[in-house]
Amino acid sequence: MTDKPSRPKSSDSLSSADDLFADSAGQQLAGQFTFDSAVARVFPDMIKRSVPGYAETVAMSGVIAGEYARDNTHLYDLGCSLGAVTLAMRHGVKAQNCKIIGIDNSAAMIEQAGHYLALDEGSVEVELECADITARPIENASVVALNYVLQFIAQEQRLALLQQIAAGLNEGGALILSEKICFNDDEQPLQDKLHLDFKRANGYSELEIAQKRSAIENVLIPETEEAHIARLKQAGFSRVIRWYQCFNFASYLAIK
Ligand SMILES: C[S@@+](CC[C@H](N)C(=O)[O-])C[C@H]1O[C@@H](n2cnc3c(N)ncnc32)[C@H](O)[C@@H]1O
Repeated sequence: MTDKPSRPKSSDSLSSADDLFADSAGQQLAGQFTFDSAVARVFPDMIKRSVPGYAETVAMSGVIAGEYARDNTHLYDLGCSLGAVTLAMRHGVKAQNCKIIGIDNSAAMIEQAGHYLALDEGSVEVELECADITARPIENASVVALNYVLQFIAQEQRLALLQQIAAGLNEGGALILSEKICFNDDEQPLQDKLHLDFKRANGYSELEIAQKRSAIENVLIPETEEAHIARLKQAGFSRVIRWYQCFNFASYLAIK
């Protein structure tokens, strides 16, 4: 058996297959993972092959947006990367006169998201903004998506960010929070193993898996479901449900 199984080719003309960690020299140093132009270029392939349930989470974010969006309000996609959820929400919204605001602090991501947006034929107004979501108040929101982003925010800033989101949501508004989660008990080794198997099944070699893990260590800090739910309640959300989980990745719906 070889170390490197055949890798699925990206089917997207705007992006490439993820080969960032294929070289034995590695492309990023330990703990140095950033969402730069190299990551933006391979991002659709990288996230699809690394995050179990990613496609479902994107699609269902559009469905949830359809349920919770209200006329004359804003929908936010915080840490929007290439705008996959921004566009899913655009096609899910049934309410009138809504505006979707996608925000990311990676200029490379926002630039690339603009190319995808230009190809999209949805009619709901979309604005893309390069900004730090921890310093960007939101207002008149009916839906906020925060998918696989909180895990990259410093732990001491997470509560303040969720409070800022709760403050900007209208009563009955919804936050979609998707995260890599960790576990307190003996479920952890099993979930780690299943996640590894998922990556291997998607064509990542042992070298790629090891180098990516080293690059993202101390950059992506997962927390338990209990910690997430307690903090969401503390931030001002009245109801939190887990609507989806695939291995060690879960998505929550928090209602103000
Ligand atoms: C894993 S990606 C998110 C994926 C995206 N939400 C999706 O569902 O396709 C994390 C994104 O969060 C962005 N990010 C991290 N910290 C941020 C911050 N403080 N402000 C804005 N964006 C941030 C990164 O640039 C990156 O594009």
